[in-house]
Amino acid sequence: MRTILSREPLSPLVVKTTILAPQIALAAQPGQFVVIIPTEKGERIPLTIAAADPALGTITVIFQLAGATTRLLSSLPVGEKVSHLLGPLGVPSEIEKFGRVVVVGGGVGIAEIYPGVKALKAAGNEVVTIIGARNKELLFYESELRAQSTELRLITDDGSSGRRGFVTELLSEAIKDKPTQRVIAVGPVPMMKACCDLTPGIKTIVSLNSLMLDATGMCGVCRVKIGGLNKLTCVEGPDFDGHLVDFADLTSRLGTYKDLEKRADDHICRLLGSK
Ligand SMILES: Cc1cc2nc3c(=O)[nH]c(=O)nc-3n(C[C@H](O)[C@H](O)[C@H](O)COP(=O)(O)OP(=O)(O)OC[C@H]3O[C@@H](n4cnc5c(N)ncnc54)[C@H](O)[C@@H]3O)c2cc1C
Ligand code: FES
Repeated sequence: MRTILSREPLSPLVVKTTILAPQIALAAQPGQFVVIIPTEKGERIPLTIAAADPALGTITVIFQLAGATTRLLSSLPVGEKVSHLLGPLGVPSEIEKFGRVVVVGGGVGIAEIYPGVKALKAAGNEVVTIIGARNKELLFYESELRAQSTELRLITDDGSSGRRGFVTELLSEAIKDKPTQRVIAVGPVPMMKACCDLTPGIKTIVSLNSLMLDATGMCGVCRVKIGGLNKLTCVEGPDFDGHLVDFADLTSRLGTYKDLEKRADDHICRLLGSK
């Protein structure tokens, strides 16, 4: 249990890792996440369950090398155990036959939309998937998502793959093409906000990447403002109605520990002599 079975770089910044976790694999549903502590002295980080295979007893996480803990996780050898693995956590995404659904994934959000796209298509929806990244090196899962979608559209900031521009341009076109019953947007906070600004009148779900500590609803760290009410992302999310999210509050809360995170990034351990 908790053994790292494989690791595969999907881009210079994004790593796919499969971990043996039979009980989590059996229970996991789209939209749920795990909390991982890579080593005994490591931090707790939440990562979306990008895939779960109950038959093999495995879960897959796909993560961006953001700072100290994601780097530590990516450096653990295959065959080693992660220190702690907690899940599945969070409320599963709403999966129904809505009709036409446009799903937008930006950056590492591309990994997070995969289980939802698959489940929405299996539920009989027409699924238009839009993916975007800064450049083609940072794009991944194109063929996997194409195979699960009715249609895949892609864009990069610099035009190195697909069209040049932002996912919001493709979203704007997709909702003009045909009546759309639901939009789902997962990615950086400014991207999710920009998507919501384009979709008044269409139910738009976002997956919030708030800071998390215990991930059990006890500490309040993951508090977000939804329609003027405080909600806990770990036990009441991470999916919320994007038109009700106070994105300014979320952005400000996400910046709370920026300086400390930077220090952790640059810190050289006097005992180990390494970062
Ligand atoms: C429900 C949920 C699901 C997520 N799923 C994924 C995923 O599938 N793939 C992925 O790459 N990332 C995912 N994230 C974000 C991921 O947790 C952070 O990138 C990670 O914690 C960064 O840790 P670090 O020490 O490497 O970087 P740090 O240097 O600590 O932080 C880099 C940035 O990551 C964010 N962050 C740091 N700690 C946390 C924390 N405990 N919780 C949330 N955000 C944090 C901060 O905004 C920070 O600016 C998810 C976050 C949430 C809340
Ligand atoms: S992370 Fe502590 S309440 Fe959600």
